[in-house]
This record gives sequence, structure tokens and C-alpha cells, in this order.
Amino acid sequence: MAVDASPLLREQLERGLTLPATWYSDPEVLRLEDERIFSRFWQYAGSISQLEEPGSFLTCRAGATPIVVVRTRDGEFRGFVNVCRHRGHLVAEGCGRRETLQCPYHAWTYDLDGSLRAAPRSEREPGFDKADWSLRPVLVETWGPLVFVNPDLGTAALAETLGDLPAEMAARGLDPAALEYRGRSRDWVIEANWKLVVENFLECYHCPVAHKSFSKLIDVDPDSYRLTTGRWTSSQFGPVTGRGNGLPYEPVGEIRASQFHYVWPNWTLNTFPGPPHVRVLVFHPLDAEHTSTFVDGFWAPGTSEETMAEITEFGGVVGAEDVALVESVHRGLRSNAIEQGRLLLDSEHLLQHFQLLVHDAVAG
Ligand code: FES
Ligand code: FE
Repeated sequence: MAVDASPLLREQLERGLTLPATWYSDPEVLRLEDERIFSRFWQYAGSISQLEEPGSFLTCRAGATPIVVVRTRDGEFRGFVNVCRHRGHLVAEGCGRRETLQCPYHAWTYDLDGSLRAAPRSEREPGFDKADWSLRPVLVETWGPLVFVNPDLGTAALAETLGDLPAEMAARGLDPAALEYRGRSRDWVIEANWKLVVENFLECYHCPVAHKSFSKLIDVDPDSYRLTTGRWTSSQFGPVTGRGNGLPYEPVGEIRASQFHYVWPNWTLNTFPGPPHVRVLVFHPLDAEHTSTFVDGFWAPGTSEETMAEITEFGGVVGAEDVALVESVHRGLRSNAIEQGRLLLDSEHLLQHFQLLVHDAVAG
């Protein structure tokens, strides 16, 4: 179906109508998103602690594009499209440490700088020049212990995407550079379009209805729960209620309010009341109707296993509630029973902010 990212649609979004329901299952929309969003903007790759030694590497994705990030012998971070230039096998899997990047299919062997060092039997091919077949480079940047990649070599620095976010977080007691990586949750797959998963993250209008335990801990009243937007980011700040029994956990620590930050296009930084920590939650489209997610945990040094487990478990409860919501929305929109939804902009303007970014990116 032709994708209509028109001025009319933009004007509808400004009035509070949503993106068309078809945008949440049409493979052509995802193809455009892959080309115009996931191939052009910064995406979260992993933790620097996975890249400490020369030769250490991690793999990640930018939309459909597999990426490998390595630490070179000079200590630099380099990123490449993780697809062999011979016939396309993935060069690296998972994370670990290697002397070279050798493809497991026919053993084309790339140096840690991406250059093709050896291709068995290539000396028998007249006109084969190894210099023509390096791995394709991508950009790599770090923010504290967080590593990011961007397939678009002509793009602006990560700092441009982050905008005021690092300062906003620092003003509220959070500096990622002061946190330590303490591991990744297992990946899981949500049966919903990636935008629905992002959109659900961007409003707490559903919190009193769908997150009972969350709403005991965090004050979700619209007069207390604050929503802000930047150019490429948006944030939600919810104070601790400080009342009632049966809190999901006892929030002890210097962080007194929750902070949930979204960064374009598909990653978020989540902090619950308690010790300083950031849980990076990432949403990757697998196809137009499935999204994979994982959470990387960064915690203040010395945070006990017990506290981490308590907060992580609480996040898991809220997350499971959210998965049920977005999968239901996906089925509803997939039925084509409604063409567009209608946002309540006082409570849902972060969602509008996101939809306008999607619209404008897809419109090119
Ligand atoms: Fe990688 Fe053949 S596909 S060596
Ligand atoms: Fe939720």
C-alpha cells in the first residue's frame, strides 16, 4: 500500500489524531522506517564493559542491519555492518573476544579495523583486490558506559540527539558515567508493532487503570506527574506517593522520584526511586508485527543484589502488564476496525511528539 506521509496527515497529528492504523502492520511502512529512521539515527548497542580488552566485540542491530562493535588494538571503538562482503553470512555472533573477525562460512578474515586481511583461494582470482572488500563502517560513540551506533556516516554527533537530557538527569542525581553495568535481561518478543511499544512507554494515562502496583508507588495524578519534550527526547517524572501500605518495594536511596526518558528512535532510560540506576530498555522491530526488547541494567557501585532484584522484578511486573496492553492494541488496529485514534493531548502529548518524529522521518 502507498504510504501517505502527507501535510494533511501532519496537520491531523497536530490536532491529536494518531498515525493511521495501517502504519502499525504494513510491511512497506517498516521498510521506509528502516531506511529513513533505523539507518539514520543513533541506536543503543550495549555496555562498554563488554569492550574492555583489545579484540573484544559485541553485536547489536540498527533496525534490520546487523552491527558489530569492536575494540581495536589501539583501544579505539570501531563499528561495522556485521555482514560478510563475500556472500553475506553474519561475521560475529553474541559478544566475546577475538584476534580477527573471521567469517564462519568460508573464512574470509577481517582485521579489527574492518579491512579484509585474507580470503582463502582469492590469489587464484585475477583482479581480486582485498582492498575492495572491507567491512562497511558505522559510527560508534559512547555516553558513560553506554555504547551507541549509527549506520549513517554523515550524521550529527550523539550529543545532538541527547540534547539537554544528560544535564536534566544530572540535576536529578543521575550520571551514567558513575554507574556500572550489571547485566542484561533475556530478550523477549512482543506481538506488536515497535511504535505501539514506544507509544505505550510515552504516556501514564494508562497507569491508574493498568498498573495498580506502580500507581501505589508513583504519584500518577496528572497534576504531579510531569511530562516534558526536547527535540529528540521526552521525559516523564513521577514523585513517590509516600502514602499507603503495600508498596511494591521500599524505595530507599537518593533517587526520590521516578524518571522515564525516551530517546528517538527506540530506546529509553528508566529509573525508579531507590539507589542511582538506569535501566536501558530497547525496542527493536523484528518485522512489522513483532518487537524484540531487552533491558540493560546500570547501577551505582555497591548496590546490593537484593535491591537490584527487587527493582528489576518490579519493572518486570509493570513490563508484563504493558506487553498485554500493546499486544491487545496491535490486534485491535490490525482488524482495520478504526482508521485512526484520538489522543488526549494534556496526558498524551509525548506520544504526539513521537508520532510527529515518525511522520517527518518517513516523509523524508
Ligand atoms: Fe563470509 Fe563466505 S560468506 S566467507
Ligand atoms: Fe505502562
